[in-house]
Amino acid sequence: MALQIENLSKSFGSVKALCDLTLTIPEASFTCFLGPSGCGKTTFLRVIAGLETAEEGTIRLAGKDMSKTPPSDRNFGMVFQSYSLFPNMTALENVLFGLECRHWPKGDRKKRALEMLDIVQLADQAEKLPAQMSGGQQQRVAVARALAPRPSVLLLDEPLSALDANVRSELRTEFRNIQKELAITTIMVTHDQSEALEMSDQIVVLNCGRIEQSGSPVEIYAHPRNRFVAGFIGSFNVLEVSRDGSGEIRFGSQQLTANAQADAAIDSGVVGLRPEAIKVSSEPLGLENALFGTVTKVRYLGNLQILSVQPECAPDQVLDVELHGASVLSRPSERVCLNFASTALHELSR
Ligand SMILES: Nc1ncnc2c1ncn2[C@@H]1O[C@H](COP(=O)(O)OP(=O)(O)OP(=O)(O)O)[C@@H](O)[C@H]1O
Ligand SMILES: [Mg+2]
Repeated sequence: MALQIENLSKSFGSVKALCDLTLTIPEASFTCFLGPSGCGKTTFLRVIAGLETAEEGTIRLAGKDMSKTPPSDRNFGMVFQSYSLFPNMTALENVLFGLECRHWPKGDRKKRALEMLDIVQLADQAEKLPAQMSGGQQQRVAVARALAPRPSVLLLDEPLSALDANVRSELRTEFRNIQKELAITTIMVTHDQSEALEMSDQIVVLNCGRIEQSGSPVEIYAHPRNRFVAGFIGSFNVLEVSRDGSGEIRFGSQQLTANAQADAAIDSGVVGLRPEAIKVSSEPLGLENALFGTVTKVRYLGNLQILSVQPECAPDQVLDVELHGASVLSRPSERVCLNFASTALHELSR
């Protein structure tokens, strides 16, 4: 079911944790709340679940106002970062408990619990205690427990962050597949941008209790609205630019060619340029922009090298460039040409 959040605000004493948030979570979609520590992600999720009360604002589920509905009557499933399973109960008993809490008919519980363990690929682990399972398996049980009573919305608070990289990557795919299969409206909190980009239909970028931007992963990555979003989703070079007397854009001593949209927004004084949008060569390649510079640092990451380059036209600024699959290692002090199209420059508000 779709969720509509309007003008939601929440404070803890003098701390304004959420400021006037308005957002639509479409039915059957996967939305990530993404942002740095302390920006209000958990608070937002807990207010939606009814575990915290907002001072202002409404939350509507399929059009019905839920703001005054107690958490037990909201029929939302929740999974937390720490494994919240009961240690003295087996996987099956934990899932059964979820059904009991929601007053699921007694005779149907076991069939449903086994069905859910099967969906999370743990049918053969039903009799194990949490201590006998890996972290990834425990989080699968927690998801099975949350999903078993057929909640209207699934709320996940950093469910993967305590797991090691391989398990995390496996579970990203698995959770997303389950969410699609069951077509359940899902909100997941994360501070991992790659997790949000990989899993979401919609990403909501939060900062200091406010929504900086919401949109699809492609919208957020390709068109970050401001400097915060640009820096938080992937890396971004921020170029300090100015306009000369004839209205041309200048980056230090050199003129730049931007597309019309970025050009119109240049008066903010900054433009963004993704490291992967820059092509490195020894001579200009014929793109609209070409800057010469000196490599000051090389970070070697196997399939990727990240070069820091000091442009000759603006020596007080440094541009990062990503080289994918290059077989020759670049060296500090090498002189290189950085080439990029006018469309690679993005408007950024400060
Ligand atoms: N129960 C509480 N009492 C007082 N202040 C709180 C409480 N819960 C959260 N806060 C404050 O509200 C703000 C938002 O906290 P929240 O836990 O929502 O952040 P978060 O984005 O989930 O961070 P993290 O990524 O570290 O989990 C923080 O300033 C936090 O200190
Ligand atoms: Mg949190």
